[in-house]
Amino acid sequence: MSYTKENNVKADFNSIYTEPPPHKYISTMAEHGYRIGEKARPYFQSAVQLLEELNGEALPVQMLDLGCSYGIGSALVKYGCSFDELTAFYSNRAPTEFSSCCDATRMWLNVVPPACNIRCVGLDSSAPAIDFALHSRLLDAGISRDYELAGVVPTQNEAAWFQNCNLLVSTGAIGYVTEQTLAKILCHLGKNHSGEYGPFVVVSILRMFDIQPIREVFWQFGLDFKPVPGVYLPQRRFIDKKEEREVLKILGERGVDSRGLEDNGELYCRLYVAGPEHQLHVLFDQMIQEM
Ligand SMILES: C[S@@+](CC[C@H](N)C(=O)[O-])C[C@H]1O[C@@H](n2cnc3c(N)ncnc32)[C@H](O)[C@@H]1O
Repeated sequence: MSYTKENNVKADFNSIYTEPPPHKYISTMAEHGYRIGEKARPYFQSAVQLLEELNGEALPVQMLDLGCSYGIGSALVKYGCSFDELTAFYSNRAPTEFSSCCDATRMWLNVVPPACNIRCVGLDSSAPAIDFALHSRLLDAGISRDYELAGVVPTQNEAAWFQNCNLLVSTGAIGYVTEQTLAKILCHLGKNHSGEYGPFVVVSILRMFDIQPIREVFWQFGLDFKPVPGVYLPQRRFIDKKEEREVLKILGERGVDSRGLEDNGELYCRLYVAGPEHQLHVLFDQMIQEM
């Protein structure tokens, strides 16, 4: 199922996803109060810690960030930067020329050791964004592919990365990315990671999207999938009254109560977790504690 109607109603940011350096993406997102990465960050960090505790530190967590853009999930989790710090760095300090920007980012990241010992793999359909994330070493591995397209499937090398990842995270991407892409990843996810626990999944999804096809694809690949009750995370402000009106209309048609959330002028997500049926309760309890 594609979310054509929802994506037509939502503001179109496609042009800023493919600039060579990240400046335009980060400044535009900041201008619209984009804060879903920052809001989801404690849950992602907590899932990393949990996997480290359960599997032992000898088996480092390998995190796949779906729709990672310029390596944002890695910046937030592995390098421990806040979205405000990223915004300040790319507004005031990082040069806009590609290779100087990569050098400056690398140096900036290296001033302090990474916040945690994880490997980060990023997947995004934007080749320039992945290119930047690799050159600046935000990502340990990057895949720029669009698996929404029929007939596009992971290469052996890409499948091997998915097989080695035991944590899948995502913010701001599901909706563009549907069960088509998830099916092509989930058939490999974690299959070659030797930790006893995982693969675990922690993703934010806008409340305007119908969750059923997403839930079903997780089930299809043997992973239980559920929302974390009570966790409603703001994504960004509506860009104008038209977007607000049309999103509220979709929510109303789907019977989603927008009072106290979208009614206050922002798009909201729910947080979902997935994992093997007999293990999911451990991740679920951890997420509840994080609230
Ligand atoms: C709103 S941005 C979110 C980026 C990042 N996760 C964050 O929260 O800052 C959406 C991202 O989804 C990516 N995207 C859109 N369609 C995609 C697809 N079919 N496959 C993978 N990534 C896609 C875009 O290129 C963009 O980087």
